[in-house]
Amino acid sequence: MVEGLDRVRVIYLVFAVLAAAPVAIYSFSRVRSKKMSLSKLEVLNTFLRVTHKVMPLGFGALFHVVPSEVSKSNKVTVRMKVPNHLCIGPAGSGGMPLSVLMSLFDDISTWSCVTSEAKKRPGVSVFLEAKWRATSDGVPPRATILPPGREVRIESSMMKRGRQMSFMNIECRDDKSDELLAEGRHTKFLPMGFGYEFLFEHLFPFADLISKAVGKEGKRNDRLIEGASKKSIMSHIGELKWSEDKVGVAEATFKVLPIHKNPMGGMHGGAQSVLAQLAAEELMKGTKVGVKEMNMTYMSMGKGEVIVEASQGGSGDVKVTLRRKKGGGVVSEGVFNF
Ligand SMILES: *[C@@H]1O[C@H](CO)[C@@H](O)[C@H](O)[C@H]1NC(C)=O
Repeated sequence: MVEGLDRVRVIYLVFAVLAAAPVAIYSFSRVRSKKMSLSKLEVLNTFLRVTHKVMPLGFGALFHVVPSEVSKSNKVTVRMKVPNHLCIGPAGSGGMPLSVLMSLFDDISTWSCVTSEAKKRPGVSVFLEAKWRATSDGVPPRATILPPGREVRIESSMMKRGRQMSFMNIECRDDKSDELLAEGRHTKFLPMGFGYEFLFEHLFPFADLISKAVGKEGKRNDRLIEGASKKSIMSHIGELKWSEDKVGVAEATFKVLPIHKNPMGGMHGGAQSVLAQLAAEELMKGTKVGVKEMNMTYMSMGKGEVIVEASQGGSGDVKVTLRRKKGGGVVSEGVFNF
């Protein structure tokens, strides 16, 4: 993650320097009161508009959603219909996989971080977890929990935030009946570097202007979002060739293409969790059970080619490791409970 952060730092430092001199004085004298009066939802929408212009969305384009509400305590609510392209199977009949829901949890809970402080730091993910709700009959089949078109509400609450770390809890409910469908947790490491923090704290009233001047990604991101929804998420991941010569292991090599990247140029956390779930399911192929809960720990940036490997862990769990093919460094680890 560190290399990616460096790149972001440099980009924002350039912004800050470009913009700082002429606008800082103006900003301090004139816009104080206006800044104070922006609602949290307006602040978040501005943040999203600006990052949309300056950072390539990559795989995030598939999960494009918009915030509906932000409370004073940084609870972010998104109301949405389960989109077809995020479901699997013919015409989405298999419903939305847990790893895809976890990616939505990732983005939405990140917004709780952004609205919770003046520096508006999105940070990087360290740990993510998602579980289907369990009823007395166990977990219902995925296709019945999140079929395409179901109207859901995803809410992220900020549990704790320190200078460096933040902790969010997320819930997914049926928007009409309020029935709890799934829950998640997210831990983030926040520091973004001086350039970013200065721009988003002190020059925020001018962030729109600055991003209009230097941002080149907006149109490309619009096209990405439009294109992303025309293809199913699994076709964006592509075919995987599982090795046949290893017993008790499902292993494949995955080439990280631009569409699989995050804004910092590494493999998107969502692409990692979808890939990890595919490996876990490949290992469990032949059994009827589906994933009940999963979690991922993100350790370093995924680049080039990534090897995904699933094997049986302790107490019936499936453990998945993503490694860089070159050098073998661990990118992330997932644990799946079926
Ligand atoms: C990750 O998920 C596994 C399987 O559900 C669970 O046993 C484990 O406690 C989880 N890890 C954390 C840190 O929550």
